[in-house]
Amino acid sequence: MKLTRSALLSLTGTSLLAGRHVAAQPAAQMNRRRIPSSGELLPVVGVGTWRTFDVGSKPEDRAPVADVLRVLFEAGGSVIDTSPMYGAAEAVVGSLLAAAGSRSKAFLATKVWTSGRDSGIAQMQASMRLLRTDRIDLMQIHNLVDWRAHLPTLRAWKDDGRIRYLGITHYTQSAHDELERVMRAEKWDFVQLNYALDDRAVEQRLLPLAAERGIAVIVNQPFGGGGLLRKLSARKLPDWAGEIDVTSWAQLLLKFVLANPAVTCVIPGTGKPEHMKDNLQAGFGTYPDAALLKRMVAEIVT
Ligand SMILES: NC(=O)c1ccc[n+]([C@@H]2O[C@H](COP(=O)([O-])OP(=O)(O)OC[C@H]3O[C@@H](n4cnc5c(N)ncnc54)[C@H](OP(=O)(O)O)[C@@H]3O)[C@@H](O)[C@H]2O)c1
Repeated sequence: MKLTRSALLSLTGTSLLAGRHVAAQPAAQMNRRRIPSSGELLPVVGVGTWRTFDVGSKPEDRAPVADVLRVLFEAGGSVIDTSPMYGAAEAVVGSLLAAAGSRSKAFLATKVWTSGRDSGIAQMQASMRLLRTDRIDLMQIHNLVDWRAHLPTLRAWKDDGRIRYLGITHYTQSAHDELERVMRAEKWDFVQLNYALDDRAVEQRLLPLAAERGIAVIVNQPFGGGGLLRKLSARKLPDWAGEIDVTSWAQLLLKFVLANPAVTCVIPGTGKPEHMKDNLQAGFGTYPDAALLKRMVAEIVT
């Protein structure tokens, strides 16, 4: 499906100039994109907590991740993605937000990752306790696990305000057919999926389908779980990186996924404040146009 110019503008909240996406907001504010089901604007770079926030309770364990959240909020970011699958991550996020008094700055996304309606309800109640909130911004069905059992609960909880949005997630290409079926079968506010410069399968069907059905898209594993970034780190950054306001490989990979107008937000995982700072830069400035996107693929991954 091709997006019309007006459809693209309403999805991204950005304007187009000479083929490049240019932020409509003042330069100092992170770029934001619309959640199609509500029109709410979401900052385009957030943070993922898999492994990175599964830390102990000693001050030296908590200080770096506390700084990650501080840096995220200072740059105007808000999206924090977690899950009951991520060890202590939910508890760590909840305790850091409470200690800093910053719950209101966060767009909290967590997941339900279990089978059965009652078990799902118990797990989501536990997530609220751990995250120390009575309202989750986005509740996602993790890897589509028993999604039919959880959907009625998610709808009921959305109706009575315990969650603001509902969605589904997956992280692997082998699940894309099922993800597509579920995206078509029901009404979702969000889908979270894997997309990276060397993992572009979603460009064919899932991203156009999300745009068509008005589903916001959160991108996970933009660095291929970290492996792609490690591979590239020995290489010199291309000369054209400056054209899209990029000063690191991490920013380049994030700008690649954010160039797709169907993408609402990207959630690189990190437990290091200096990496968070680096990643947040991808939320500012310009994004690659079609010609540069082709060049990125040709020069970097093929
Ligand atoms: N099924 C699902 O729902 C699902 C599946 C996978 C992921 N997710 C979500 O998506 C998030 C992102 O995916 P991911 O964490 O698996 O992979 P990723 O974001 O592609 O890569 C994360 C890795 O990159 C490193 N990194 C981050 N920023 C960096 C920088 N600027 N420079 C150098 N290294 C950097 C991190 O280590 P440092 O800590 O050292 O920065 C970490 O090892 C997850 O955290 C999770 O919230 C969801």
